[in-house]
Amino acid sequence: MVLGILGSGSGSNMQAILDAIDAGTLDARIALVLSDNPHAIILERARGRGIATGVIDCRGFRTKFPEEAQAETAGRLKAAGVELVCLAGFMRLVKRPLLDGYPNRILNIHPALLPAFPGLESWKQALDAGVPETGCTVHFVDEGMDTGPVILQERVPVLPGDTPQSLHARIQVAEHRLYPAAILRIAAGLAPAPSL
Ligand code: GRF
Repeated sequence: MVLGILGSGSGSNMQAILDAIDAGTLDARIALVLSDNPHAIILERARGRGIATGVIDCRGFRTKFPEEAQAETAGRLKAAGVELVCLAGFMRLVKRPLLDGYPNRILNIHPALLPAFPGLESWKQALDAGVPETGCTVHFVDEGMDTGPVILQERVPVLPGDTPQSLHARIQVAEHRLYPAAILRIAAGLAPAPSL
């Protein structure tokens, strides 16, 4: 399975995928890592591993992912031979034409048990809501925000005295197990892409 990763931040989930590949538990290869942030640590991590990287030119938009940039991104992923696209802390909403280039072949990891707490800082949302547990979800990406079909979820307890930081850190430990496991399910044909 040839993977492409899109990320905007630290890339700890990409690292977890690389670790699973190194450990021999995931038969895959990361062919290309792209970021909308030229300074993102995920790019440094990828370069350190000799993985091809690139910056997505979002035409000066702060949060939007312009259509031309999405088409370019699909083209670069295709040219690198990418079969499955993994969003790993990518902070822009994917729409057409990137979705059209990879129908049911784009995954995202979200730090909550979707459909609960979509959107930003879900760990804070969970703390504010006073729920006893939250978690993380790997799902197929569709045109909504954190709305596509769920592939795998893992529960994470909210503990007394948790801060947003401590809860997010505990969720990330679970994320690092969950993302490689979800990719493995797809590679093994256990999570067939839903029909549109
Ligand atoms: C993760 O918590 C993920 O759930 C969210 O963004 C964060 C990315 O972290 N979508 P990292 O860049 O993989 O460390």
